[in-house]
Amino acid sequence: MTTYARAHTNIALIKYWGKANKQLMLPATSSISLTLNDFYTDTAVTFDPELNQDQLTLNHQMQSPTAVSRFLDHVRHLAQIDTRARVTSLNHVPTAAGLASSASAFAALALAASRAAGLNLTPTALSRLARRGSGSATRSIFGGAVIWHRGSDDQSSFAEPLTIQPTLPLRMLVVTVSDQKKAVSSRTGMANTVATSPYYQAWVQSNEALISPMITALAENDLTTIGALTELSSMRMHAAIMAEEPPFTYFLPETLRAWQLVQEQRALGIPAFATMDAGPNVKILTTAPYVDVLMTALQPVFGDRILSTRLGPDAQVITKEQ
Ligand code: PMV
Repeated sequence: MTTYARAHTNIALIKYWGKANKQLMLPATSSISLTLNDFYTDTAVTFDPELNQDQLTLNHQMQSPTAVSRFLDHVRHLAQIDTRARVTSLNHVPTAAGLASSASAFAALALAASRAAGLNLTPTALSRLARRGSGSATRSIFGGAVIWHRGSDDQSSFAEPLTIQPTLPLRMLVVTVSDQKKAVSSRTGMANTVATSPYYQAWVQSNEALISPMITALAENDLTTIGALTELSSMRMHAAIMAEEPPFTYFLPETLRAWQLVQEQRALGIPAFATMDAGPNVKILTTAPYVDVLMTALQPVFGDRILSTRLGPDAQVITKEQ
């Protein structure tokens, strides 16, 4: 039997950057994200006794199944089976937006594969399973504003929706600076920071300290504080990255241009706050009434390379026809 699942990408406001335990994929700090409505992955999984190895088709192309196989081994272990699977995945994350799709991909795979293997995991167990594929996937099991508790072992490191969700009409604008594949993957990038950045410990301490104020700011719909904390976490992460040996940055000239435009808009009284991940693209946090004015301000530089989305839902099992 084939199971289909859909999971949405998320963007961290308080970032995850650095593992405390590589094997268990435990992060050094907790993180907080917003799940996005318009970018998602649909994945179909069939365990088939006829197969002698796992198969992966991604966006209609056969791919090496190595990472997926490693992930499916966790599912097989939980379900006590050794059957191989056929995995078909379609990313509705515009490649041109250069958004990481590992979060939605592994969250959708965790849900589809566990159900197809006959498991009915709780959302917490699903989140822990998704964590084994990609850290940010831990959070994509849930919609809205989500916290990933760093925890100290496999049991305690999972995500859940924040108890008090913001009711602000939050929007995220995704500004594509470059659609090239990222220069350094997040996995390698964070390993380099941990190993060589003298600022890594400062990053871990200062980032963890942002968690509690962010929970409060989101609960109080305090956009100014949400935005200020978001920019702090992102810039501190990138500062730790720049201090690596050899030095490295994900920034491109147009990345700085986008940050500058955001600051200019803020000086004009528009609530807009920037964040970026392991790549040069900039995501801008705002609320619905300001989307058009921001689009107008960004368009002279970025043209149609700006997408806007509201917050998205939990990962869910879907029927094929959707
Ligand atoms: O889940 P990964 O291994 O792709 O790492 C995600 C890292 C960042 O996107 C930069 C930050 C985050 O918390 O999503």
